[in-house]
Amino acid sequence: MSSGNGARIPGRGFESSPPGEGVGLGAFPVSRLRTLPPAGTPIRAAEVARWAARALSPSLGPSLRARSAFEEGVRQRFEVPHVLMMSSGRGLLSLLLEELARRRPGRMEVAIPGYTCYSVAAAVVRAGLRVRPLDIDPATLDYAPEALAGLQADRVLAIVSGNLFGIPGDLSALEAFARKRGIFLVDDAAQSMGATVDGRPVGTFGTAGLFSLDKGKNITSLRGGVLVTRDDDLSRRLAERIDALPGAGFAEVGGDLVRLAGFASLQEPHLFGVVRRIVRLGETVYDPDFPLERYPDRLAPMALLLFRRLDELNRDRAERGRSLRNRLEGLPGVHFPSAQGKSAGVALRLPVLAPNAEARDRLLDALTARGLGATASYPRSIADVDALGPHLATGMLPTPGAVDVAARILTLPTHSGVEISYQEQICEVFGAMLEDASVPT
Ligand SMILES: Cc1ncc(COP(=O)(O)O)c(C=O)c1O
Repeated sequence: MSSGNGARIPGRGFESSPPGEGVGLGAFPVSRLRTLPPAGTPIRAAEVARWAARALSPSLGPSLRARSAFEEGVRQRFEVPHVLMMSSGRGLLSLLLEELARRRPGRMEVAIPGYTCYSVAAAVVRAGLRVRPLDIDPATLDYAPEALAGLQADRVLAIVSGNLFGIPGDLSALEAFARKRGIFLVDDAAQSMGATVDGRPVGTFGTAGLFSLDKGKNITSLRGGVLVTRDDDLSRRLAERIDALPGAGFAEVGGDLVRLAGFASLQEPHLFGVVRRIVRLGETVYDPDFPLERYPDRLAPMALLLFRRLDELNRDRAERGRSLRNRLEGLPGVHFPSAQGKSAGVALRLPVLAPNAEARDRLLDALTARGLGATASYPRSIADVDALGPHLATGMLPTPGAVDVAARILTLPTHSGVEISYQEQICEVFGAMLEDASVPT
């Protein structure tokens, strides 16, 4: 059912798969070769050693036990009876949508935020469904209320939440909205594992929720997706389909092991700068032809080790995000998209809206030249991704909020490598760039 070839969209800075940051980052000045990763998870050397001891064992037993413990941990923490895993979140999303489509034949559209990860749109296309991007509010990055109000719901199968950068959307309201219209809500927590809304974990709203274990997510095992649901029938059907999928090949597992082992060293700013020059890292890609594979069990011990530190990792990012935001707040024309209502975010990155597109580009160039881990995030709104054109729902309304965000957003890193000296440098760049410009606020 897949259609279309992958389309590379040249972005500014890194996006889809930024490597992590990590072990023992020193407070040395950033030179041109020293580059902060835009996002990441500080994996400790001891964790690499413990993971390797299990993953490299000739028997699969230790990895399988770690996977069971991880799934049980997710079940308990998120209070859901069913946890399913695959090699990616997008793979799970496409199978999930196919299963939901069997329950509502004739409903062919999936509403997604007008500005979100292109993998979400790719999963919709992979499931043979049409993408209906709805506009977002730049102040929250969540669905714009008027876009929801104007939605013609009769052809819509499901609506997917955004929760980008660790900022939760108004999920209680979205759940009620979807229920009232007979639409399935899929709670995409790929970037928000550990966040809550009204005391409920993000990822547990609606019919099913998703987490990603890809690089640069709240926790990572290099790749992997986790689906949670309370729906017994859905879980049974999905489990059958996942069991029938191929696993990663022998060479791929070997490659994963090498890559994950190298991950910790990649996180050091000096090495990240070098590797970035050799490998084309993190282009934003729309590609509906992604593999559908079972989760590689030998990665599970890493998922388990980091899952046990989820709260600590989230606290650390939140603290740095707050500190950075406090320094930048008050600069002319700079805005910080934020959640509304009673929610606790997890600050995977700190998104900032520059006063205008030109100022964003200048800021990004200056931050990138100093290796300060800024990215332009997704370069275009979903509706402006050319390769998606044939797969968009008919009668789509414009998404000006999403277009505006794509032009003005940049993300700043919040991981443990962003020490005070880096925060000061980021502020210097903002101060200098915004002072230079005659900025309309
Ligand atoms: C918001 C969002 N949803 C879904 C996904 C898909 O997750 P994965 O990379 O595990 O396929 C991502 C990952 O980039 C994401 O950022």
